[in-house]
Amino acid sequence: MVSGARAPDSTGSEPAAFAVFQSFGVTYDTAPAPSLTGLTLELFSDQLTLVTGPSGSGKSTLARVVAGFVPRLLHGKIEGSAQVLGNDVESAPPNAITDSIGMVFDNPFDQLTAATRTAFDETAYALENEGLPAAEIVSRALGALESVGLAGMVGHHPRRLSGGQSQRLAIACALAQQKPILVLDDPTSQLDPTGTAEVVSLVRKLRREHTTVVLVAQDLTHWLAIADRLVILDGGRVTADGSPASLLAEPVPLAGQVMIPRYVAIWAELRSRGIELGDRAPLGTDQLIASLQASVGAGG
Ligand SMILES: Nc1ncnc2c1ncn2[C@@H]1O[C@H](COP(=O)(O)OP(=O)(O)OP(=O)(O)O)[C@@H](O)[C@H]1O
Ligand SMILES: [Mg+2]
Repeated sequence: MVSGARAPDSTGSEPAAFAVFQSFGVTYDTAPAPSLTGLTLELFSDQLTLVTGPSGSGKSTLARVVAGFVPRLLHGKIEGSAQVLGNDVESAPPNAITDSIGMVFDNPFDQLTAATRTAFDETAYALENEGLPAAEIVSRALGALESVGLAGMVGHHPRRLSGGQSQRLAIACALAQQKPILVLDDPTSQLDPTGTAEVVSLVRKLRREHTTVVLVAQDLTHWLAIADRLVILDGGRVTADGSPASLLAEPVPLAGQVMIPRYVAIWAELRSRGIELGDRAPLGTDQLIASLQASVGAGG
């Protein structure tokens, strides 16, 4: 396994772990085999942890454990231990995890309530249950809808939205709750390039505001530049973990099954042909271009 050390944050202090997995495994009650197994991992506050891996590697299951859904609501047999915000995930009191961690599911239709008649109502639903004052509910719900580009659709029926609009609405519902930790499971899977760019800039803004983010993505292209850490899963366990630039500078375990961005693949190919491009993988096309220009400048 490529090892990933906890990186000091911008203040130089060690970030705190909000989730600690030790030899953790889960086998859903309805599944014949474990979805996670022997997983050892710490997740740190005030970071964006990007989680990737082949289909079926356990990314969504990990996300659901972190967000307090597995095994409390979606049951399964646990091995080892997992603590989230100091709570054992098996015996955590109701809401102990979900009060502080918001989740956007991979499939928005698993998340939307089917109990509301407008996008506004859907976004306000959880806030009403929290008993917030009406003015606060309205400003949070409208603000969240605007930030996902649905300001013009507040009165639309949730069931009449497209897949991409439903995904944005699911994100708005989580945003409106303003929780300090957000788990996003492949939040752009149904979005076109414009929608994807909007969600990326939204997550960038959340990070500037110090929201802790755990983000599952099949396609890393848009996320590397804002990720503090990259975790690769395979077969329900961690196979690589480290800073994106150093982890992707080495041959990535499972390359071929994990979508390596083109700018990283081009950088690696040029480097393998002897072009001096440094030992940190680019985290965007702009960084690839900058390292090529530096190489030309240096006569490399
Ligand atoms: N609710 C569930 N009940 C039973 N088995 C499940 C459930 N969810 C996932 N699994 C199984 O657990 C394993 C891991 O699935 P999971 O969805 O966590 O992987 P993933 O990495 O998110 O995959 P994908 O990239 O396709 O989203 C798979 O074998 C899957 O079939
Ligand atoms: Mg998944």
